[in-house]
Amino acid sequence: MRVLVAYETAHGSTAEIAEAIAEALRSKGAEADVKRCRQLGSVDGYDAFIVGSPVWVGNWLKPAQAFLRRFEQTLAQRPVAYFHASGAAGRDDQRDEVVRIMAERLPAYAPSVKPLATGAFGGVVDFDRYNIALRLLMKMVVGRGGGATSGRHDMRDWDAIRSWADRVHEAFQERASGAG
Ligand SMILES: Cc1cc2nc3c(=O)[nH]c(=O)nc-3n(C[C@H](O)[C@H](O)[C@H](O)COP(=O)(O)O)c2cc1C
Repeated sequence: MRVLVAYETAHGSTAEIAEAIAEALRSKGAEADVKRCRQLGSVDGYDAFIVGSPVWVGNWLKPAQAFLRRFEQTLAQRPVAYFHASGAAGRDDQRDEVVRIMAERLPAYAPSVKPLATGAFGGVVDFDRYNIALRLLMKMVVGRGGGATSGRHDMRDWDAIRSWADRVHEAFQERASGAG
């Protein structure tokens, strides 16, 4: 099985999540490529797709939205999983809410794509890397949820990411064998 892990990122941390997902798939025997949405010209030759983005002000980054729009027809015919990386998804009491909100948002870009699974993972919030505009925006976002408003916070839970990837691999296999 050949899987494309297509991700978008603003500050790099979601690329590492995508790599960890691909590594978990490879350890199960799949072939997995990792590519950034904004750099993808074609998605030919893949049997399944995992697509993920950081959440910015309650939505995926624009290149990830565009990826869904552009390749909707292909994605609709293959097994697909989505993942979200965000500050709120790093909190046990807010993770499900991230999944719920994004399940309402993403059909606007690719209504015919029905993901088999959705993961939400804590990402990296790093105020030192934001310019003034992003810092203000992020302080506004965080202000609502009661999170930190300075410093660097790496909330990535690598075990949770890998075990989600293992489950997605199983779901893809079941779908491929006609059982799912
Ligand atoms: C401008 C801005 C807006 C953000 N908005 C949200 C948000 O609405 N909800 C959330 O949970 N996290 C939000 N975040 C946190 C990011 O989703 C998180 O930092 C993510 O892991 C960044 O991934 P990246 O390093 O791949 O760019 C925001 C971050 C920035 C800089």
